[in-house]
Amino acid sequence: MNLIDRITAIYQKTFGYVPAHIIRAPGRVNLLGEHVDYNDGFVLPAAIDRATYVAFSPTDAPHSMLVAVDFDQQATFSSDSIPTKVQADSLPLPEWGLYPAGVMWALMEEGLPVLSMNAVFASEVPRGSGLSSSASVEMAFLLAWQTLGGWTLPPMQRALLGQKAENRYVGVNCGIMDQFASACGVEDRLLLLDCRSLAWKTVPLPEHVAIVIADTTVRRKLTSGEYNKRRAACEEAVRLLQQDLPHIQALRDVSVEEFNRLAGKLPAEIERRARHVVEEIERAKQAEALLEAGDVRNFGRLMNECHVSLRDLYEVSCLELDVMVDIAQSLEGCYGARLTGAGFGGCTVNLVARDCADAFARRLADDFHSRTGLQPPIYITFPSNGAELIK
Ligand code: GLA
Repeated sequence: MNLIDRITAIYQKTFGYVPAHIIRAPGRVNLLGEHVDYNDGFVLPAAIDRATYVAFSPTDAPHSMLVAVDFDQQATFSSDSIPTKVQADSLPLPEWGLYPAGVMWALMEEGLPVLSMNAVFASEVPRGSGLSSSASVEMAFLLAWQTLGGWTLPPMQRALLGQKAENRYVGVNCGIMDQFASACGVEDRLLLLDCRSLAWKTVPLPEHVAIVIADTTVRRKLTSGEYNKRRAACEEAVRLLQQDLPHIQALRDVSVEEFNRLAGKLPAEIERRARHVVEEIERAKQAEALLEAGDVRNFGRLMNECHVSLRDLYEVSCLELDVMVDIAQSLEGCYGARLTGAGFGGCTVNLVARDCADAFARRLADDFHSRTGLQPPIYITFPSNGAELIK
């Protein structure tokens, strides 16, 4: 049974009637520009063909009731219980409930009407894997409340509210990339976003290549703590560099030459973090011209460089990610391979010649298994549309 049929059946069993609506909101994979969104840099993600689905209807009850199929749990909350992160019965919200509740909080802050709903949701986006399962849940519920509320926000506005929910309600100081990709995805296209101006365009994925995602199955530990630390290190670098470059607002404003000249003034760890960001923004700037020209070889080289930088300078890789990348780069047809998303575990993204993709996926899984004992799910994925009402 596919996921839509499954959540529809569970909805009907739980609430006794058919859901009025169904929404699909995708996860994302990022090809280049990692850990630069919160430094005003450029990112190149795509929404993927794996998504979170929510079946829902309005209700006259004073609270919303959500069933999380993946956790086999339910939670209730209302505008009264939202600020204190508790359920209608005063029990604390389960962790998964913070994402929809955070979205409701952000919408209430905007002064938008947020109607009570009954909802059942489930996801094909593996959690903690670097594919933005949380952003997909946020974008799904934002669109669900929009569908019931009689108001319309443009996709980028919805992305910004999802980011606000995650920053201020869930407590992860993430950038805009994940919510943006889940809200604004375009079928068959990569998305190039300027995270300062929020201007974006689509860029072609050359026809003869496939995007292959390989899941190490290692799940992030301590992520939000480590993530927030990386962000703080970047802010510290800006503060220190401002002594020589008073005009800078973010690491985006520092050229590679300026950075090389001033790097010696930074403490060693801050220097490594900032160097990754400055050089990665430079790499991401080259992406558009390379992809427009169909130059996958040089684009793939930038992906490989990105992995080394995330491993050695930003220090967000782990043994299993390094093994997965190492194997991938040795296989026929692989142009580039690197960890994707925040890191500390999760998935790699690989750009592979289309006619080699099946063999690549098999070999990668086998070799990774023999080196680590882990069985990695491997997906050949396609850029998909952003969050949408499908019923
Ligand atoms: C997470 C965050 C994003 C971005 C990436 C790293 O996915 O949610 O905003 O910072 O990590 O590029």
